[in-house]
Amino acid sequence: MIVAPKRYRHPPTCASCHSCSARETGRSSKSHPQITEATLGQAGIEPPTVMMKEACQNGRMRVAMVCLGNICRSPMAAAVATAMAEDAGLGGEVVFESFGTAGYHEGECANPRADATLRRGGWPAGAHRARQLRPADLAAADLVLCADRSNLADVRRLAGAGAGTAKVRLLRSYDPEASPSDDEVPDPWGGDDTDFDLTLALIEQACRGLVGELADAPR
Ligand code: 4NP
Repeated sequence: MIVAPKRYRHPPTCASCHSCSARETGRSSKSHPQITEATLGQAGIEPPTVMMKEACQNGRMRVAMVCLGNICRSPMAAAVATAMAEDAGLGGEVVFESFGTAGYHEGECANPRADATLRRGGWPAGAHRARQLRPADLAAADLVLCADRSNLADVRRLAGAGAGTAKVRLLRSYDPEASPSDDEVPDPWGGDDTDFDLTLALIEQACRGLVGELADAPR
């Protein structure tokens, strides 16, 4: 089953999909019109990215959270998503990792304010070591979720033309409150506690959407 953010799940003309009328009518998703990447592309909608079933058949699904330094946003996102997935009973099926597009902080712990923000929010913190994203990490990931558009462009560049780019998207593509003009998790590094609290709130919203999609995906 392909898992995509709900608002990208089907083209506007589709009157029947797994997430809406299928549940109301009890019809099997097999009877639904095939929604292809080409169809989505024609509708101007980003293609779906995660093949949960295939990923699980190959072991645990791997989700890579990516930001610039891997000491603030992406470790926070991985910590939140991991805890949410465990709460949803998905702990054995999905693993969340995090990376930076730059290697400035490789081997370092998360920024102390990122850890403090996580703890304030009731999430686990303190186990992180920063890593720079490498092509092998990209190849091993089933889904790559970027904090902002600059990260997205850097990751797509690293992936090379075509290879692996469909599974690379913004983390907030799973945030039901995101919009085309507000779809990033801004960099809080250099900011204050208010900036870190906003970062956490955006990450929580997106991770809630993501984990909900994963939990709903047929196995
Ligand atoms: P992050 O924040 O990408 O959320 O980890 C940053 C951390 C460090 C730097 C930039 C952003 N830096 O330039 O060192």
